[in-house]
Amino acid sequence: MRELTKILMILLVVFAASCSIDNSKKGGEKEKFINDLIGKMTLEEKIGQLSLFSAGIDPTVPVSNPKYADDIKAGRVGAVFAAFTTRDIERLQKMAVEESRLGIPMLFGYDVIHGFKTIFPMPLAETASWNPDLIRHTARIAADEASATGVNWFFAPMVDVTHEPRWGRGVEGSGEDPYLASVVAVARVKGYQGDDLKDVSTVAACPKHFAGYGFVEAGKEYAPVDVSEGRLRNLILPPFKAAIDAGALTMMSAFNDVNGVPAAANKFLMTDILRGEWNYNGFVVSDFGSIDSLVVQGYAENNKQTAELAFNAGGDIDMESSSYKDNIPALVKEGKIDIRDIDRAVRNVLNVKWELGLFKDPYKYIDKTREKTRMLTKQNLETARQMAWESFVLLKNNNRVLPLDLKKYRSIALIGPLADNQADYMGTWIAQGDTFNVVTLKQGLEKQLPSGIRLNYAKGCNIEGDDCSGFSEAINAARRSDIILLAIGEKGNMSGESGSRGDITIPGVQSELLYELSKLDKPVVLLLSNGRPLAIEKEVAASDAVLVTWIPGTAGGDAVADVLLGQYNPSGKLPVTFPRSVSQVPIYYNHLPSNRPGDPSNRYSCSYIDIPFTPLYPFGYGLSYTTFKYSDLKLDRKEGGENDIVKVSVKVKNTGDFDGEEVVQLYIRDVAASLIRPVKELKAFKKVFIKKGEEKTITFELKPERDFAFYRADMTYGTEPGRFLIFAGTNSQDVLKEEYLLKE
Ligand code: BGC
Repeated sequence: MRELTKILMILLVVFAASCSIDNSKKGGEKEKFINDLIGKMTLEEKIGQLSLFSAGIDPTVPVSNPKYADDIKAGRVGAVFAAFTTRDIERLQKMAVEESRLGIPMLFGYDVIHGFKTIFPMPLAETASWNPDLIRHTARIAADEASATGVNWFFAPMVDVTHEPRWGRGVEGSGEDPYLASVVAVARVKGYQGDDLKDVSTVAACPKHFAGYGFVEAGKEYAPVDVSEGRLRNLILPPFKAAIDAGALTMMSAFNDVNGVPAAANKFLMTDILRGEWNYNGFVVSDFGSIDSLVVQGYAENNKQTAELAFNAGGDIDMESSSYKDNIPALVKEGKIDIRDIDRAVRNVLNVKWELGLFKDPYKYIDKTREKTRMLTKQNLETARQMAWESFVLLKNNNRVLPLDLKKYRSIALIGPLADNQADYMGTWIAQGDTFNVVTLKQGLEKQLPSGIRLNYAKGCNIEGDDCSGFSEAINAARRSDIILLAIGEKGNMSGESGSRGDITIPGVQSELLYELSKLDKPVVLLLSNGRPLAIEKEVAASDAVLVTWIPGTAGGDAVADVLLGQYNPSGKLPVTFPRSVSQVPIYYNHLPSNRPGDPSNRYSCSYIDIPFTPLYPFGYGLSYTTFKYSDLKLDRKEGGENDIVKVSVKVKNTGDFDGEEVVQLYIRDVAASLIRPVKELKAFKKVFIKKGEEKTITFELKPERDFAFYRADMTYGTEPGRFLIFAGTNSQDVLKEEYLLKE
């Protein structure tokens, strides 16, 4: 009997083995190639594929001397980052391909966050355009420019939803709403990766930072994150899922912990959700040095344990910390890391290299002609200008002071530390963007103003500090002018990584300058440069018009001038709530309902006794030079089941004096649910052009299983029958409302 069992067991093993051989055959050429390659690799070479180091290149010396040359030649490096010229990338790739034993090509990663040479507005500003097609286009251009130097992997898009204006990195993301952030994430992934990964202008995307970075406590950089699973799944994870579904090849984990477990070693995130629930089969790269820092973060006892914890949780590539390189060999020997898991991780990495076509031609991206001809082209600059137009948000326009009526003015005062400032129009993460290519507002206006109109320029003050000595010159310039344009706000590096601010007002004495100018009894146009929502209640009150220009990039000055002069009618909408003061933070439109909803006339309501609870400007807000009137919100049915599509229509009429674009927004509210749902949730939007006097009917389709579903109290995903409110309007506050019943 025992003999029989033994024979059966042997047969079973042989059968299973033959099945797995069949499987690999089924996978075809790629699987065979990768399996063969893995079969030839030593453990050291395998760990090499899981190691990413910065190129250590000094771009100022003629011949670069990469720090890791010997490791590359020994097959101990699978990818490098921050190499960005054909000369350097070719040199590094040759070391890997021609001097290492197996000749495996490397990935070249880079933080191309809002353009490579042509710098577009910061990602948060791009989101304010609510124009995913244009965002996809700028992402495409960024990939086209960067790939021309050999870069084949972007550490982007950053898809962290945040409710924290103090957090500096909000500027790299898409604001406070998971739906808008998902739409933008998809646009960027598709822009970077294009339609065909074999094309020389497409690069691998890397959505980051998985997950929860946008919820660092008090908006303080690198602080802990404590979020419920419901919040994680319903608010933070959707853009990551959308990016993966759009085909993102890679993913970066975050620095922060999530409920006590650092993201870099978080099995729940990287293995259970990402691979288990979402079937992701790309690789996960850690953030810079975040595996090493598991010790300081209080998760690992020592450096050796960092590798064990991060790797076994599902982290494939170690960025910069050397922890995998130094510790995995011993951990494999001790049986703490399974070699089959190493092979799986290596396969994930080789798979991306295959998909990019690097095994066919490791030098496919390196093309000196493209490097010379693809950068800062006329079309790229035109797109940067258009993107900037669409990103601007008009918050106020009393007495229609904008667009400037040049028939009325003989002289214009242009004042402020951001009026003739190239560096701060670029922001952070500028890849290979050059400051001297930036068009300042002063330059933009000088190009366009007719010769009969004088531009009286004065800087007035610095962005920071308390020096008011320039005020008198500025006031004199204003006195000599018919209207005042004041460009103030934040420095470009006051947002971005390590750019958290505790005080989100306009820095320095810039607001004082505004108050002085506003005493002159001349119209004041406030042009705000900012990488986050700012608390500007008093500044708005002191101005006649307010235009948020964010951090507008290379073509910024031309674009602001265009909008001031009416060449483009603003259409941007806020992707973030603007608070009245920092004390209201966090303040966001998609909050959960209270048992006693805020009511200014009732002390015992969700409010404060000393400050208002309402925002200065709500999510989705933005004016146009024209006006739009909404009417006739209609649902084609009042009730239906899970499979019934709800057709929603609303009429929008351009009632003003200009043609213009409007972002028509559709929100829902699930009235009662096992896990209470936000008071409003954006579910769709359309940006439409409407001629003056024209009325358009805008239609949307709501699909219950897609638009009414959420992670319920038991953390399963799906809908719950009951009442829903459907809203449509020009922002999250000013809406028309209808009711719908989702039946069992
Ligand atoms: C940032 C990442 C970035 C990485 C590489 C880190 O400090 O958090 O977003 O991709 O550095 O530059």
